[in-house]
Amino acid sequence: MRKPVIAANWKMYKTPAQAQEFVTAFLPLVAGQDRAEIVLCPSATSLATVVAAVGGSGIAVGGQNIHQAEEGAYTGETSAQMLTALKVSHVIIGHSERRQYFCETDEIVNQKVHTALKHGLTPILCIGELLEEREAGKTEEVLLKQASIALKGISAEQAKQIVVAYEPVWAIGTGKTATPEMAGEAHFMIRTEIARLQGREVADAIRILYGGSVKPDNAASLLNQPEIDGALVGGASLVAESFAKIVKF
Ligand code: G3P
Repeated sequence: MRKPVIAANWKMYKTPAQAQEFVTAFLPLVAGQDRAEIVLCPSATSLATVVAAVGGSGIAVGGQNIHQAEEGAYTGETSAQMLTALKVSHVIIGHSERRQYFCETDEIVNQKVHTALKHGLTPILCIGELLEEREAGKTEEVLLKQASIALKGISAEQAKQIVVAYEPVWAIGTGKTATPEMAGEAHFMIRTEIARLQGREVADAIRILYGGSVKPDNAASLLNQPEIDGALVGGASLVAESFAKIVKF
C-alpha cells in the first residue's frame, strides 16, 4: 500500500512572515492525521522559517529547485547541500515552469535528480504534456520520454525514493483539471514505463502524484483513483484551510 503524499508548491508566493503565519494556522488543522505524508515547498527564502515552524510535527519541507552542480559560480542558484544544511528533505525537480521559463531540458532534469539523490534529498520529479501535445495525441510519447531521460543512470534502489508528479501543463493554474480517468490513465502509462525501466517492484513502490488545479472539491475524486498516490498543489496550497481540506481528502 503506497502512502499518499500531499505536497504544497507555493511557487513565488509568501514572505517568511507569511509562511510562518500559514504554518501556525495549518498545524492544528492537520494535527493527528497520519493518512498522508505532507510536504511544504516554500520559496528558498522561507525554507529555514518553515523548517523551524513545522518542528517535530512530521511535516516535511522541500525546496522548489536545486542546481545540478555541487557548487560554483552560478549566481542566484541554490545547491543540494544548501538545502540539506537547512534540514530540508525534498526538492521539486523539473517543474513545467522551470522547463518553460528557465530552459530546463530533460537532460538537466536528469542531472538534478542525480544530484538530489546523492545528497539524500527526495526528488519530486515533475513531468507532463503541453496542450498541443495532448491534442496531437502525443501524451504517452512525451511522458515516456520525460520519465526515461529523467531516470537515466538511476539505480532501482534510488528510484524507489523518487516521488513522481504528473502535471499536465494545460491544467496548471488554469482551473482545468484532468478528469480522474484521464489522470489515472496517464499515471498508468508512467507506472508501466517505470516498470519497464526499473522493474515491477520499483514501479509498485513509487508514488505518482497528480498536479494541476487540485482544489478541496475535486481532491477526493482524483485521489481515490487507484493509480494516483497524492497531489502536488499550487494555488489551493496557499491557504491553510484549503490545503488542510485536501490533505484530509
Ligand atoms: O506544482 C503545482 C502546480 O504546478 C499546480 O498548480 O495552481 O494548478 O494547483 P495549481
